[in-house]
Amino acid sequence: MWEALAFLLQVQIPGAPEHRVADIFKPLASPAASELNMAKLTLAITGAIFVVVGALIVYTMWRYRRKPGEREFEEPPQVYGSNQIELAWTVLPVLIVFVLIGVSARIIRGVENASPPPAPNVTLHVTLIGHQWWWEVRYPAFGVVTANEIHVPVTHGSNYVTYFRLESADVIHSLWVPQLAGKTDLIPNRENSTWIDPPQPGIYLGNCAEYCGTQHANMLLRVVAQEPADFQRWAANEARPAVNDPSARSGRALFESLSCINCHAVRGTRAQANFGPDLTHLMTRQTLGAGVLANTPENLRNWINDPQRYKPGCLMPAMKLTDQELNQIVAYLETLK
Ligand code: CUA
Repeated sequence: MWEALAFLLQVQIPGAPEHRVADIFKPLASPAASELNMAKLTLAITGAIFVVVGALIVYTMWRYRRKPGEREFEEPPQVYGSNQIELAWTVLPVLIVFVLIGVSARIIRGVENASPPPAPNVTLHVTLIGHQWWWEVRYPAFGVVTANEIHVPVTHGSNYVTYFRLESADVIHSLWVPQLAGKTDLIPNRENSTWIDPPQPGIYLGNCAEYCGTQHANMLLRVVAQEPADFQRWAANEARPAVNDPSARSGRALFESLSCINCHAVRGTRAQANFGPDLTHLMTRQTLGAGVLANTPENLRNWINDPQRYKPGCLMPAMKLTDQELNQIVAYLETLK
């Protein structure tokens, strides 16, 4: 909860990664821009209705107030069966509703449109799977699996457009990166889609926008938009199996002997489970626990020691490791670059 509050208020809490406010009024990608336009139109129409209705109520209260010398409960003259009034308050709202439906349908179709854009755009396909409470990020074309951080190439200079296939492993989640796109739900046994075209390199913050359980507020996400060459370098590194650093051999053996491998995968080792985030290149990520902590050696040690302290209710248990075991595990994970 504090993480979400800090996210909104731009307050830094100890141990947490840096957060900046993602300003929904400064859309950068096309879907977010069209969504903001729709929001503005809806606000203008509903705001006008609010002002008119409010003004009529205030006027009526003032016009028909009890004047000095008047008896209580004196009804003003009543109107029955006026065709003009009936027509006006039937036709007008229907027109307004149809305008809103038409505009919404057009924009939703544009945002969800799953067919690749016309040339010369290049399409990157990313599968995003919502879990309680983290994001699984898959790049089928590269054989890359990572978590909570989506690297994409920028659009300007590359014509790249990134398409998301949205799925869920458990309950309904919702993708929302305010400056790029969203909110689009990730629904079990259903496939949704959306796309982004971030114009410039940068880190765009997002979060889950559909209540999905106790740690919904700590289901944070970052989109890292990079120059195409940087993105290719990142993807090439992620596609490689885990580094086998001889200096961390004992840590690796310990990791493979513990129940860590019942949930996590480290490609190239015995760890092949995909219940929790893939750890093959853990050290390339900026945060731990889907944005709860900055990814530093100290935080990593604290997190493994007692995840429930930082993310109460999360599905990773405290493993009750000794200090020495903890040091070995952290030393091993630190090699996963
Ligand atoms: Cu996932 Cu809220």
